[in-house]
Amino acid sequence: MEMNPISTRILAGLLEEKTGQQLAAARRWRLDTALRPLMQAHGIATLEQLSLRIAGGREALLADSIVEALLNNETFFFRDAAAFQLLWESAIPRLAEARARSRRLRIWCAGCSTGQEAYSIAMTLAEEAERWAGWSIDILATDISSGAIARAREGLYSQFEVQRGLPIRHLMSWFEPEGEHWRARPELRRKVDFRVANLLDPAALAGKVDMVLCRNVLLYFSNEVRASAFQRLADGLAPDGMLMLGAGETVIGQTDSFISDPECRGLYRLSQPGLAATA
Ligand SMILES: C[S@@+](CC[C@H](N)C(=O)[O-])C[C@H]1O[C@@H](n2cnc3c(N)ncnc32)[C@H](O)[C@@H]1O
Repeated sequence: MEMNPISTRILAGLLEEKTGQQLAAARRWRLDTALRPLMQAHGIATLEQLSLRIAGGREALLADSIVEALLNNETFFFRDAAAFQLLWESAIPRLAEARARSRRLRIWCAGCSTGQEAYSIAMTLAEEAERWAGWSIDILATDISSGAIARAREGLYSQFEVQRGLPIRHLMSWFEPEGEHWRARPELRRKVDFRVANLLDPAALAGKVDMVLCRNVLLYFSNEVRASAFQRLADGLAPDGMLMLGAGETVIGQTDSFISDPECRGLYRLSQPGLAATA
């Protein structure tokens, strides 16, 4: 379909203004498909009409729904086996050692989408019950999409979603069938604190975390926005905390806040840990 460049610019501009996400050229062509259900629900025939409705800051609720529809929420359980291996074989053992006295571990999934990443971590930690006996483990998971966070809290997944990466033994232990779907058991849901938060908002976090995963979120930020997102992540980390990005993402050339972890390829540390006040 021929796209009106002004409508495209208004809709893509709205997404970027609210979330920092730039609409990749390849996805611009899918605007119509992504927004069609919303347009039908509001009796709006074309993208031009839709963009006119929200132009000049009018119809804030409609604008929020457009942003929700345009966000890329792609995720799945245990996404990227190598990352989870790195987490269990390097990051978590090091944190366990560093926090042996306080016995407190705080993990933050920034840009958690519908919850699969945070639940994958929660299930794995819970299955090492003996190791973590007496520990207090907080898993905070945030996303700008209120729809994604609502789904994450509900913990209700389709057959397709559980088939993407969730080992059958985890499915059997931590989920129960509900109609055509599977719902995370309450004891799993209780392990994760899901909150709506914009990663670019300086007040997104209270206190510091030991490990932050921000995977497949920074890809579509402009260089400038990405640098401030890295600063927000750095602000949220304890001085000896670690950052994990998505496969193929890096801090190199993107920010002065982080450096590659000298001991572990694939993890990142604060470049100036002295600047991170403890909390
Ligand atoms: C592609 S998903 C990645 C989910 C998960 N981290 C993973 O790797 O499977 C990206 C998520 O980042 C969220 N996001 C985009 N911009 C954000 C922002 N400024 N603040 C918080 N979350 C954001 C989106 O809503 C989406 O759910």
